[in-house]
Amino acid sequence: MIKISPSVLAADFADLGNEALKMEQAGADMLHIDVMDGHFVPNISLGVPVLTSLNKRTDLFMDVHLMISDPFTYAEPFVKAGADMLTFHLETTDHPETVIQKIRSLGVKVGIAVKPATAADALFPYLHLIDMALVMTVEPGFGGQSFMPDMLPKIAALRQEAIRQNQELDIQVDGGITDVTALLCLNAGANVLVAGSYLFGAQDARAAVNSLRSV
Ligand code: DX5
Ligand code: ZN
Repeated sequence: MIKISPSVLAADFADLGNEALKMEQAGADMLHIDVMDGHFVPNISLGVPVLTSLNKRTDLFMDVHLMISDPFTYAEPFVKAGADMLTFHLETTDHPETVIQKIRSLGVKVGIAVKPATAADALFPYLHLIDMALVMTVEPGFGGQSFMPDMLPKIAALRQEAIRQNQELDIQVDGGITDVTALLCLNAGANVLVAGSYLFGAQDARAAVNSLRSV
């Protein structure tokens, strides 16, 4: 099933509650919360208090993308703030199993993200332990960048390996997603589409969500 996750990084941060509601009413399946620490990525976005407030304003599933150097320490505060899934970056740890276990123990779903330079097979040993793999289709840190088509083989390799392992894995793509690039990603094997600029920049949010769902 295709799932649509609007990235709040492209929303009006002074009006986040209404922006979230707009996407809920537009038929989005979840809300993608981009957390950046200015260390793992060269940008700072939002953190625990913002998620706590936002969670009171929407019933959407909170898809939290942790672009932070220490996901182990911050997993618990983000779950308490309302995260329904925590996705951490493989590049941040030498012990992914420990972070996976920590997140599982908090009772939420687990995803692992990879930067463009990280190969698909780095994720293969963990596929049976996670709910979702996130293939970054831009360098993490900023919205509004161009989609990297050379990530398509990585998506295909992950889907192929998940099938080989008999795993029902969600594969999320994030960065430069539009109705055009979404089609390429879905054909390669992705099923969860994150989109910031494309959805929050649209005149008609419902039409934009539908355009992704029906590519
Ligand atoms: C980038 C973030 C993305 C970003 C996507 O580091 O992880 O979620 O907001 O924005 P667009 O869709 O504008 O490329
Ligand atoms: Zn993201």
